[in-house]
Amino acid sequence: MEVGFLQFQPEFCNVEVNQNKIFSFVEKAKGFDLLVLPELANSGYVFTKRSELEKVAETIPSGYFVEKLIELAKQKDGFIISGVCEKKEAVFFNSSVIVGPEGYIGKYRKIHLFDREKLFFEPGLKTFEVFEIREAKVGMMICFDWIFPESARILALKGAEIIAHPANLVLPYSQTAMLARSIENKVFTITANRIGKEENSGISLTFTGQSQITSPEMEILAQASKNQEEIRFVDIDCKLARNKWINERNNLFDDRRKELYDVL
Ligand code: ACM
Repeated sequence: MEVGFLQFQPEFCNVEVNQNKIFSFVEKAKGFDLLVLPELANSGYVFTKRSELEKVAETIPSGYFVEKLIELAKQKDGFIISGVCEKKEAVFFNSSVIVGPEGYIGKYRKIHLFDREKLFFEPGLKTFEVFEIREAKVGMMICFDWIFPESARILALKGAEIIAHPANLVLPYSQTAMLARSIENKVFTITANRIGKEENSGISLTFTGQSQITSPEMEILAQASKNQEEIRFVDIDCKLARNKWINERNNLFDDRRKELYDVL
């Protein structure tokens, strides 16, 4: 399967510019099976007022940005996972969607909100889900979900072979930690991070780039720069993520001692 990420710098609160940028990268790219875009790819990140979210957030799946992603998925005959600033009635969610050539497939609402996200977004109340696309099973988690190993573990126990990870990372740890998420679950991971500095009303964040694809053997199959916009693809065999044996006596899932894990 051809899988990849698009790393870019969204323009804050300008959905049309962001959508055009995504289109211009993806239309030029070769064909793919799965492409992952960053967290909040339609909106940017540094919100300081509800009115900013009102301007850009959309309902899923009938909003402008998701409809455009579906158009692109049809055009490229591939599946796309992207972060979306979602509005549902009076509340906002930091969500991701999966769409394909046949249209909308599903969404995930970020469960573990990071820092000031808690001022504007509601946390998702539904657990992690796995979706089948072509020969692969794919799950979604968003950015700070990485620090809770339960996120990737739940997805892997539900059969995910690829964990798609739209991100707006600001801490320096996740790219290394995702290697652990890969080996401890024997899955592929695709982190699509954003780049650039975003400033709003005295708040300034710099995002760390280095989007990456990791393998069930804890290899980095592709890694982007810290500060350039890049689209990258690799060819993976998702069957490799179905083998949970480490050696002939150790199986990652069968060897778990759940009877001793009560505190979890
Ligand atoms: C993050 O969860 N956007 C750091």
